[in-house]
Order: sequence, then C-alpha cells, then structure tokens
Amino acid sequence: MTRTREALAAALAVQDARAVPRPDGAAHEARPHARAVVMTMGALHAGHLSLVRRAKELADAVVVTIFVNPLQFGPTEDLDRYPRDLEGDLRLLSGPGLLGPDDVVFAPTPQVVYPDGDPIVRVLAGAVGDVLEGALRPGHLDGVLTVVLKLMHLVRPQVAVFGAKDAQQLAAVRRMVHDLDVPVEVVAGSTVRDDDGLALSSRNAYLTPDQRRQALALSRALVAARAAAEAGAGPEAVRGAALAVLTDGVPADDVHPVDVVDYVALVDPGTFAEVGPHATGPAVLALAARVGATRLIDNTELLLGGEVTA
Ligand code: PAF
Repeated sequence: MTRTREALAAALAVQDARAVPRPDGAAHEARPHARAVVMTMGALHAGHLSLVRRAKELADAVVVTIFVNPLQFGPTEDLDRYPRDLEGDLRLLSGPGLLGPDDVVFAPTPQVVYPDGDPIVRVLAGAVGDVLEGALRPGHLDGVLTVVLKLMHLVRPQVAVFGAKDAQQLAAVRRMVHDLDVPVEVVAGSTVRDDDGLALSSRNAYLTPDQRRQALALSRALVAARAAAEAGAGPEAVRGAALAVLTDGVPADDVHPVDVVDYVALVDPGTFAEVGPHATGPAVLALAARVGATRLIDNTELLLGGEVTA
C-alpha cells in the first residue's frame, strides 16, 4: 500500500516498466490498457471488488484508491462517521482474482491530496451537478469531480472504472472527461445486489436489520418502474409506479415504506435532465430515500415505450 505521492510515483514507475509494450500504440488484444484505476472511499464490499475485477480485465496493472474525500461532504453530512476499515479493505483486495504484485493501493491522507488545504480552483459539475444529488447536496458533485480529476492526474490511468450505482456521478465524470479532454476512458461497472435486491453500498452498514428490510423498498420501486415501462407506460406512470412502492411499501412481502422520499426522477442518461412527458427511448429512473438516518440511492436504466434494458 502507498500513502504518499512519492511512494505512488515509485509504484507507478514499476508498473510502467513492466507494462506490455504496445508498438505503434496498437491495443493489446486481451487487455487494451496499461493501467486502470478504481477510485473508492474504502469500506469495500462486493460491489467495489467487481469494479476491481473489471479493471483487471481491461488493463495490465490496476491502482485502487481509497480516500474519504472531505470536499464532497456537506457540513451536516456523515464525513466523520463514514465507515473506515483500511485493514479490512486491504484484506479484501488481496483475495483471489483481485490485486496482484504489480497492482497498487493508494490510500492517502487529506494532507497528501490537499497539501495546501481546500483547493482554491475546483471543477464545477455544471448542469449535471445541479439536479437530484446536486440539488440536495450542493457542491457534492463538484467535490467528487475535483478529487477524481486530481486522482486521474496522480495515477495517470488510461481507463477508470466507476460503479453504475452512482449513476449521476458516472454521468458527471463522463461529462468532465469529455468537456475537459481528459485522456481517460470511463467504463461503467454494473451495480451488485444482494440476493434480495438491495444494492450494495458502504452506507448499508448503518442499517439495523429492520431498516435493511425497509430499504428493500428502493430496489422494489425500480422493479415496479421497469415493469411499467415494459408494459408501455409513459414517464409519469413509470415514475408513479416507483413512488407508490417507496411510499406504500410492499405489504405482501412485509417491505415497509421508506421514511422520506428525497426524489424519484426519470432522467436523460447523459445530462440527468428530467425527460419530457411524452419521451421515449433510454432513460434512467433514479431515486433517493431515507431509512432512519441513512440516505440511500439506487437507479435503473429502462426504455420508455419499449422493453427493459437493464
Ligand atoms: O464513489 C465514490 O466512492 C466517490 O465519490 C469517489 C468517486 C471515490 C470520489 O471520492
């Protein structure tokens, strides 16, 4: 594990020296990239590990970053109590099929990432950062993009794998890479769910057993939305189907309603702008809800006016 910029640079030099040569810039057949990065805030679970496996498929060498980024937490949010377990994370990352001797974990402190304190110059997420998560957590996506860009500069990857569970974050990162000509390919890793449908999240650790059952309302809401879309329902009815599950629960399955619905939105996958009332084609149904004091998000892609895509 590396904790400083100097140690990271030395570990990257070793990766560079061992990288499979790609004469004339031609892609290596099996692994098209020399280095892939997976950025995390630690408290790793099977969802993160699936991103690391994807990164290993895509590149000769992988860097996993573990950094709880203060810049993306609001003043009343859970920065202090966000779960941290570096030893456990390292144990998980050394499991079968995961990090090998040439791979690197970069787990810097805030002083290493922000040596001069909070940065004066930051990335602004713009329109994609003003809605949904951005509206409820002002500055959140700006903080995410600022650290993502810094980590891209420090790690120098050709590819970065981000989880589809944070769909708005993924869209914002894609937009930043496009708008600022960052030479990194962004790849989405599918959301990993427990057998009962709950999307894996480090914040699930906050839930009591009863709250965990209640949290199933989120994935059930997505199932209802997809079923409505598949049946040909329009945007309002698709949104309504999801909202009904969040507010009423699924009594037949003993799934209680969530405590607070933050939003249920049907948005364009690229811009995260709400789709119009007669929209057809690909869309993302994104939702955020609170169960007790824990805020959870989930989403699904769907095809309005057609069959389900994911
Ligand atoms: O998704 C996360 O864990 C974080 O937002 C990220 C991308 C590591 C940036 O801090």
